[in-house]
Amino acid sequence: PREERSCACDRCLSEDESSFTEGFSKFAEPFYSANHNLSEDNFNWWKHLQSKNPTFSAFKEGVKGMFQMFPKNAELEASSPDRCRSCAVVANSHNLKGSHYGPLIDFQDFVIRMNRGRTKGFEADVGTRTTHHVMYPESAVNLENNTHLVYFPYKIRDFVWITKALNTSISYNKRRLKANTDLMMVLNPVFMKYVHEVWLNKEGYYPSTGFIALILALHICDEVHVFGYGADSDGSWSHYWEKLRNTGFKTGGHPGDVEYAMIKKLARNETIKFYRGG
Ligand SMILES: *[C@@H]1O[C@H](CO)[C@@H](O)[C@H](O)[C@H]1NC(C)=O
Ligand SMILES: *[C@@H]1O[C@H](CO)[C@@H](O)[C@H](O)[C@H]1NC(C)=O
Ligand SMILES: *[C@@H]1O[C@H](CO)[C@@H](O)[C@H](O)[C@H]1NC(C)=O
Ligand SMILES: *[C@@H]1O[C@H](CO)[C@@H](O)[C@H](O)[C@H]1NC(C)=O
Repeated sequence: PREERSCACDRCLSEDESSFTEGFSKFAEPFYSANHNLSEDNFNWWKHLQSKNPTFSAFKEGVKGMFQMFPKNAELEASSPDRCRSCAVVANSHNLKGSHYGPLIDFQDFVIRMNRGRTKGFEADVGTRTTHHVMYPESAVNLENNTHLVYFPYKIRDFVWITKALNTSISYNKRRLKANTDLMMVLNPVFMKYVHEVWLNKEGYYPSTGFIALILALHICDEVHVFGYGADSDGSWSHYWEKLRNTGFKTGGHPGDVEYAMIKKLARNETIKFYRGG
């Protein structure tokens, strides 16, 4: 008799509960829905991400408004024995330049990009497909109609912003942000806390968008291929569409070195496949 599998990849992260989660418990519900009820404790952690000191009731109002506009988020495709949900998580490092990873990225089932990540003009290195695009208001870009908007709310204002930017009473072309609202998914704010506490041992102020996206991929994919993280071979941190600007290690409020060390650890023990680029 054939062994019961949870996916069709060689190895399935989703069935590997113990191996990827040795001491790293999985987070039950990475996406937010109208039924969620954030505890005040969790709210108190999340509110530190913003400079204003918001009230819990303002938070609840913001969330309520958003779910009135978008009553249900897109469903995540569940794992299945006849399918391998392989994912390319593509961050924006300059190390993608000249990498020729395009076909390898496009070959994966899901292609997850983030912030101002783009493909036009860079297809050979970064591919052409985008099934999921992670963003927050300050990094928002218009999306193709078949791309999932994966929204990361860092502030109360972010709930209000997305409700206005994608206001479905306004005709598509007049909306501030162009994205298919049927395919929208909102990150559970508690997931950020989970990443900070469980994967970064509470180092730094809060995790970067790129690192949260990577840990999210461990939750929604069976196999994770990671591109465009870290510095390039010259030790420079910059985006692949820009001329090199920053040299040296500059990561603002994020615990960049701790994040990068964890990514390398996950690569060493083959939880992820990590592509270093040029
Ligand atoms: C790989 O390392 C991570 C982080 O330390 C750990 O959570 C995971 O259990 C390890 N996986 C394997 C297969 O050793
Ligand atoms: C949400 O939690 C509050 C207390 O924290 C409780 O009073 C309320 O009934 C809960 N609502 C739902 C829908 O679970
Ligand atoms: C976008 O996709 C939706 C289905 O999710 C469809 O109803 C709509 O017509 C599409 N819009 C465009 C502009 O293609
Ligand atoms: C959405 O647009 C309609 C029509 O312009 C407007 O009446 C409504 O207040 C808007 N809603 C939000 C949340 O901005």
